[in-house]
Amino acid sequence: MTAPSSTTTSHAVDAYTAAQQAQDAAVGHSSRTFRVWRGANGEGDFRDYTTEAMDGMVVLDALHQIQAEQAPDLALRWNCKAGKCGSCSAEINGKPKLMCMTRLDELPADEPVSVEPMRTFPHVRDLVTDVSWNFRVKPNITRFTPRAPDAPDGTWRVDQRDVDRVQEFRKCIECFLCQDVCHVLRDHHKHDEFIGPRFLVYAAALEMHPLDVADRTTQLKEAHGIGYCNITKCCTKVCPEGITITDNAIIPLKERVADQHFDPLRALVRLVRGKKKPG
Ligand code: SF4
Ligand code: SF4
Ligand code: FES
Repeated sequence: MTAPSSTTTSHAVDAYTAAQQAQDAAVGHSSRTFRVWRGANGEGDFRDYTTEAMDGMVVLDALHQIQAEQAPDLALRWNCKAGKCGSCSAEINGKPKLMCMTRLDELPADEPVSVEPMRTFPHVRDLVTDVSWNFRVKPNITRFTPRAPDAPDGTWRVDQRDVDRVQEFRKCIECFLCQDVCHVLRDHHKHDEFIGPRFLVYAAALEMHPLDVADRTTQLKEAHGIGYCNITKCCTKVCPEGITITDNAIIPLKERVADQHFDPLRALVRLVRGKKKPG
């Protein structure tokens, strides 16, 4: 028996490779490169990882695969992989997104996919940031203050339209992507003076609640810095829950603040009658 010539072997390899590629293409396999931020405490750089991508994969799947195959020390945060826990926020190709809801087939196939941590919060490691500032902001907003019950059995009567109006705000998953993109926090670092779009949504949910009687307009104007928002709508564009942050939450809150604090007649009435929620 004679050994195959090198030309024969090379043809066999080419044929095998072509067959494998055809099979991969048939089942939706392809190779993708991910440019992932690695480092700690704000220091670091991008590193490239190439991995196999399959039909239906999201960015989080690819990063898990990279963790399993090449970088077991890659730090990232996730919980549900269903767009509901708000943990996997990052910047993908420069845009704030949830890693578990960003499909690879939405991203250009001919260039690396960049994945970096949110920039508005202190960097911890790799893709993980410290978002605890948000949890310190929330308790400073006057909590839900319901009016007395409407009926002797302790129940209330509300108009369904008023219930529907605040329902949208309750979809928030606290991913903080809106906080990440807002220039007041991201570029101007006004974390001590401005609560950011997420908490303006939260304040709107309370202010517009049909049972709530607290008036948050003074704190919105003074402690919570609503005046810093110049309605750029960047927050609305990145919200994965599709909450119309600017038009439905922030603008109505700004109108309430203006009514209460810049309308001389209302300001006088307010002074005479004490705190009263606008209608
Ligand atoms: S609309 Fe206001 S809160 Fe939203 S991103 Fe722009 S400045 Fe920030
Ligand atoms: S309002 Fe939207 S973008 Fe902002 S934290 Fe909630 S879900 Fe995330
Ligand atoms: S892992 Fe929960 S929102 Fe992405």
